[in-house]
Amino acid sequence: MAVTVLVRQLTVVCLLLTSLAALASGESFFLSRDHTDRLRYMRTQNRNQVATELDAAAMLEKYGYLRCKMQRRRRRDVYALDNLWEMLPTAPDSRRPDACGEAAIREAVREYQKTYKLPQTGVVDEATKTMMSETRCGNRDDEQKLQPTENATLAAAADSNSRHFVQKRAAARHGPSKLRSLLIPQLRTSDAEVTLRRRRWADEHMRELESGAHDERARRSLERVRELRRTRRKRSAVLGMDTGDAFNRRIVTWRLVDTGYSTQMTINKQRTALGLAFRMWSEVIPVVFMEDKQSPIDEVDIKLAFGKGEHLNCPNKFDGYGGQLSHAWRQGDIHLDDDEYFTVGSNQGTNLLKVAVHEIGHVLGLAHTSRNYSIMYAIYQKLIPNANFELGWEDRKEVQALYGVCSGKFDTVFDWIRRRPDGQFIYNTYMFRNNRYWMYENRYNRTRYGDPLKIEPEWKGLESNIDGYAHVWTYTENTVYFFKGHQYWKYDSENDKVFEKYPRNISEDFRAPPGSNSPSIPNNIDTVFFDRRDGNLYFFKGDKVYGYEVAKGHEGSCLPGFPKMIRDEYPPSPGSKPLPNHPDAVYYSYTDTAMYILKNNEFWINEAFHPLDRLRTNSVKGPFPMSKKWYDICDVDSEL
Ligand SMILES: *[C@@H]1O[C@H](CO)[C@@H](O)[C@H](O)[C@H]1NC(C)=O
Ligand SMILES: *[C@@H]1O[C@H](CO)[C@@H](O)[C@H](O)[C@H]1NC(C)=O
Ligand SMILES: *[C@@H]1O[C@H](CO)[C@@H](O)[C@H](O)[C@H]1NC(C)=O
Ligand SMILES: *[C@@H]1O[C@H](CO)[C@@H](O)[C@H](O)[C@H]1NC(C)=O
Ligand SMILES: [Zn+2]
Ligand SMILES: [Zn+2]
Repeated sequence: MAVTVLVRQLTVVCLLLTSLAALASGESFFLSRDHTDRLRYMRTQNRNQVATELDAAAMLEKYGYLRCKMQRRRRRDVYALDNLWEMLPTAPDSRRPDACGEAAIREAVREYQKTYKLPQTGVVDEATKTMMSETRCGNRDDEQKLQPTENATLAAAADSNSRHFVQKRAAARHGPSKLRSLLIPQLRTSDAEVTLRRRRWADEHMRELESGAHDERARRSLERVRELRRTRRKRSAVLGMDTGDAFNRRIVTWRLVDTGYSTQMTINKQRTALGLAFRMWSEVIPVVFMEDKQSPIDEVDIKLAFGKGEHLNCPNKFDGYGGQLSHAWRQGDIHLDDDEYFTVGSNQGTNLLKVAVHEIGHVLGLAHTSRNYSIMYAIYQKLIPNANFELGWEDRKEVQALYGVCSGKFDTVFDWIRRRPDGQFIYNTYMFRNNRYWMYENRYNRTRYGDPLKIEPEWKGLESNIDGYAHVWTYTENTVYFFKGHQYWKYDSENDKVFEKYPRNISEDFRAPPGSNSPSIPNNIDTVFFDRRDGNLYFFKGDKVYGYEVAKGHEGSCLPGFPKMIRDEYPPSPGSKPLPNHPDAVYYSYTDTAMYILKNNEFWINEAFHPLDRLRTNSVKGPFPMSKKWYDICDVDSEL
């Protein structure tokens, strides 16, 4: 409160010292002040309430419900009459067969009521007027969504087959077992945590914008994008895939045009909110959005602008506070009504991030839906305090039908078990790629919102480009190791950081016994697997697998008979392809009680594996596409 009062007082001072207001700092001061007084003022200015049947008819016409043409009367009549029905021609007019009659309008009202789940009375009742008075997106409700390509449909069919197999098998394996006690449901990342993570991203982004670091990096990446586009355009013409569609490319550029800044918040705040909105789509489709402040404006894919009333030669005029918030063109531009009270990181006013995510949905080819929990619901719904909004399952599936799903190779993948302070176990699947990682929430078929995060500082002391992970878990030992190059790290799960005195050399601690002629564990492994069945570590490198007996400690304990050929040790099941050399990751999934082997975009499952078996028999089935089991692991990073 004290701060608000102070800000108010300072505002007065500022108004008195008009010469000061001319300073650049004056502008940012104005933009960052408390605007709630403005909101109160604007509410009294809302001329977009639907009060009469005539308003309702105009609304139905504007948003695509009317299949007929409204007869325009002289102005005087419009003001004199409140009742729509009196406005209508009394008898059908043979000269204007498409003119609206009562039946056609009632039908349109009914259709509107159906869309917004109101009683379908065909009468403009209070509930209908209330709904029509809500602020909303300016795009019409009868817009059709972009049709998925034939290929995407085929991919979806293949998808359900392989999923079915994996799940059936997992279900069969989940019989009564001691392990069941470990199968404690995972906890979903809480809303508060997600909000925090998004805010952290925004804060970091703001700092980078202000220091100029972001623009510097973006400039370098954009040089490469433009080069890429020049070559790709040539190549796609050869493949006959250049449909002139801007989104045939994985990289899409956007700009908040400098004639279209909002007057309500700093430019960097606007850019940050828009950047975050684009990132939310990048989290679910293999499209990276890059802010482009340097290319000629007509080379930028999506141009965004705030405007009031008549704006930017746009045919769709804004209507002041309330009513229409924004509109967008498919594979085109986004306009935002600056007469709205836009805010970021606040429950007051209209959340700019939420509106932007919706409009980007249109740009990507999505249309309005009557599901009120979808981001593509046309009516703006206020954010619930402390909750966050996200792209729901259907939103994701729809946009993926158009752009496909993300796929890619990982450095290492593993389930990590953590005992929480309240004694509960949680485990999720962690997927590392280069300097980032995702946490996959198996129960929800998706990664945690806001992923990927950078490995450092989230995993203190750990490096990028990890080769392998192993959780040694026996009666006597409970240790987490990471391997990379010639080194390995022991990780302190309790304190979430690497133990002191690490990394150490692999050659120091994973040696062959003195005098033995079996080789030591080599450097630069491909990956490593702790096999619960015999409590040993298996290191994969090239076409070989090396066994290491953990129970004997670091004093020389390479398993006899090893190394062996991967394809002999892990033979394919009938009809399967043999495992490739150089696997990316081999891991045990607590969720599926299964052993997976990953390589590039594919995975194999060890059908003979059960963690309670003592006999090590292996039989691998596969490959299956990764993206059909683990959804939406997208690299949102726009740095190239
Ligand atoms: C569809 O799939 C076929 C075969 O996989 C491929 O040759 C073709 O280029 C794809 N078309 C599009 C538009 O992606
Ligand atoms: C969404 O619609 C359902 C019924 O269709 C209703 O129960 C719920 O309150 C609505 N949610 C919001 C936020 O309007
Ligand atoms: C996860 O995927 C499975 C299979 O496609 C589906 O049955 C289930 O409803 C999904 N769960 C969630 C939370 O989306
Ligand atoms: C670890 O390995 C590196 C590179 O092979 C070597 O230079 C270093 O001396 C080794 N350190 C120890 C303690 O053996
Ligand atoms: Zn819309
Ligand atoms: Zn416009």
